[in-house]
Amino acid sequence: MNQYFATVARGLESIAAKELERLGARDVRPDFTGVHFSGDRTLMYRVNLLARTIFRVLVILKEFPCPDAKILYQEIQNIRWEHYLQPNNSLAVNATGGNSKLNHNHFTALQVKNAIIDQQRQKFGQRSSVNTENPDILINVHIHQNHCILSLDSSGASLHRRGYRPAMGLAPLKETLAAALLELAEWDATIPLLDPMCGSGTIPLEASLNALNIAPGLFRKRFGFEGWQDFDQTLWEELIEEAKNYKLPALKAPITGSDRNSDILNQACINAKQCGVEQMVKFTQTELSTLEPITDNGIIICNPPYGERLGNVRELGDLYKLLGDVFKQRFKGWTAFILTGNKELAKRVGLKAAHRIPVYNGSIPCTFLKYELY
Ligand SMILES: C[S@@+](CC[C@H](N)C(=O)[O-])C[C@H]1O[C@@H](n2cnc3c(N)ncnc32)[C@H](O)[C@@H]1O
Repeated sequence: MNQYFATVARGLESIAAKELERLGARDVRPDFTGVHFSGDRTLMYRVNLLARTIFRVLVILKEFPCPDAKILYQEIQNIRWEHYLQPNNSLAVNATGGNSKLNHNHFTALQVKNAIIDQQRQKFGQRSSVNTENPDILINVHIHQNHCILSLDSSGASLHRRGYRPAMGLAPLKETLAAALLELAEWDATIPLLDPMCGSGTIPLEASLNALNIAPGLFRKRFGFEGWQDFDQTLWEELIEEAKNYKLPALKAPITGSDRNSDILNQACINAKQCGVEQMVKFTQTELSTLEPITDNGIIICNPPYGERLGNVRELGDLYKLLGDVFKQRFKGWTAFILTGNKELAKRVGLKAAHRIPVYNGSIPCTFLKYELY
């Protein structure tokens, strides 16, 4: 049984914990920007392949008191690194957190790397090279107060990089956040879904993958654990085959995205093609003021521009008012959700929110607002 830590966006810890439990994780315990869990190697492979809401799965190697750089170096040297990598394997070290003596992540990472390659030089007369782009072994060192957690990153590149999205709109949501919003909205595949400001299509695409039981990891070229000495290729191929067999042939309810911008919509269509759902999800060019429902009820999820990255906050007030008017006048029987990072703009919607959920979009504190429309 290994100890794992799944890293997640701030605010999504309990959503990720529920997902990990569904995937068979044991001892699941949400923490700040992550979830602790335990399980075997099969579970770790499966989580990397199937989880929709998490960034990375870290395999915890060691935890120790770590007040300063000297102790960090010694503790790293006490590990027999030949169990994990040979001099012909490349490595990279990511450092996060910090304390008063280890307050520079680049320096902390350098200490760890030096301790490993010094050991290799002593034992083998050779050392691993550093490859920050595509290392065989990605090491994660997290310092909090006087405590260090040393892990191997089994994911490699963050899992929000599904591999199906070459084309991105101006302010795309991370795929992991889009998947989490669907969970927070308690959407399921039997409920029609609409994103009237879909941009590059992240919300409808993540909904389609979920509804069709398509594993998000199937589009990725590589996971971190594939470069490890203990990589079990046969087991991994079995899990991929198993995931492919779970794919469903059709949607149970319509999933649609619209946007006024034809160039961005074109990107959404390219992305849909990349993940093989272009026949399932519908994207249409529609200006919000002319939007009409295609079913009697359903769930709307959208993230309108909120001025941090796109548009002018004053002009956007009119857009939020229009959103509220369209919801109220044409979408009776629906439930609508708006993700926004601007509370003043949210007030312009002019509807009473039934629920407000705090979430982070990258480093931007946002609110996910729920409106019951009747
Ligand atoms: C923040 S982006 C959405 C990003 C999207 N969730 C993604 O992941 O790519 C907001 C989108 O709203 C669209 N938009 C703005 N005003 C609109 C309007 N009046 N009618 C329709 N779409 C509009 C923009 O074209 C933009 O693509």
